Amino acid sequence: MSSPRVLVIGPASKVGVHLVEQLVAQGISPRVAVRRPEAESRDGPVPVRFDFTDPATFAEAVDEVDAIFVMWPPGAGAVRRSVIPLLEVARERGVRRVVFLSVFGAGTLSFLPHAQVERWLESSGLEHVILRAGYFMQNLSTMHRRDIALHSEVFIPAGRGHLGLVDTRDVAAIALKALLEPGHERVYELTGGESLDFYEVAAIFSAVLGEPIVYRAPSFASFIRRWRGREISAGMLAFMTLEYAFTRLDRSGGLTADVERVLGRPPLTLRRFVDDHRERWSEAYQLSR
Ligand SMILES: NC(=O)c1ccc[n+]([C@@H]2O[C@H](COP(=O)([O-])OP(=O)(O)OC[C@H]3O[C@@H](n4cnc5c(N)ncnc54)[C@H](OP(=O)(O)O)[C@@H]3O)[C@@H](O)[C@H]2O)c1
Repeated sequence: MSSPRVLVIGPASKVGVHLVEQLVAQGISPRVAVRRPEAESRDGPVPVRFDFTDPATFAEAVDEVDAIFVMWPPGAGAVRRSVIPLLEVARERGVRRVVFLSVFGAGTLSFLPHAQVERWLESSGLEHVILRAGYFMQNLSTMHRRDIALHSEVFIPAGRGHLGLVDTRDVAAIALKALLEPGHERVYELTGGESLDFYEVAAIFSAVLGEPIVYRAPSFASFIRRWRGREISAGMLAFMTLEYAFTRLDRSGGLTADVERVLGRPPLTLRRFVDDHRERWSEAYQLSR
């Protein structure tokens, strides 16, 4: 049987980048939906021009595709004007299966944009798998890397709130299965195997790197002040601050067994994640970016 034709939205995102790698390793070259196809490497998967803020790009992206991995970039506008219209076009054009990257808590926090997409999918008639993922370890190697590399500190306004941090390599491995195999459940709740607060996160960094990394637990005001000087949209900063406000309430630290159930092995640990990305925590790496 021929492989399904797969489209990946957000191929450079924290999950997308690993999903593309894992698809290619299986011999499947996905189509990748990017805002600037001209900037993509010629040796990589075939890019198609796609922008959530430009509905004219939707039809070509989903044409002759069987299955799509979809995520919603918080800066890309309301889901009713971005993700949902894309899914409507996908359904019209014969896409059969959608794997949607949602967020842990979307099952109860019905006001979240992700929950709106979930509700649309449930009544869409499309085959779908919803991945409600917990806090990504990769936030630490991207957005928060600079504070760790240059100041030896974790600077996140989450107080003593706990999170079931998950490695996006695991989320991508489950997205891959959900795209390629029949018979998956409609919803998976994806966490790592440990519920940690950021004091414990910093302690794991210190132990693995052999140098002190301190958790500062800043106030929201000092967090926003520090981030104002960085390249981030106001919408994204507001979304991030809101997420950490929830974390502070300490209701987001629950763990599930779904990663192990689907992958047949325990989730990757934070210790392993820090060790695998050692070069990223160095000042030299940060300054070279
Ligand atoms: N971060 C977490 O801990 C976490 C946990 C669970 C769920 N989630 C959810 O996962 C989703 C993705 O978050 P993330 O942190 O993984 O994002 P991310 O790594 O920042 O990636 C965002 C991606 O969206 C693309 N993009 C941005 N604006 C676009 C537009 N207008 N049209 C098309 N593509 C666009 C970006 O492309 P460029 O490369 O061109 O900028 C990038 O590939 C969000 O809905 C978030 O709520 C996140």
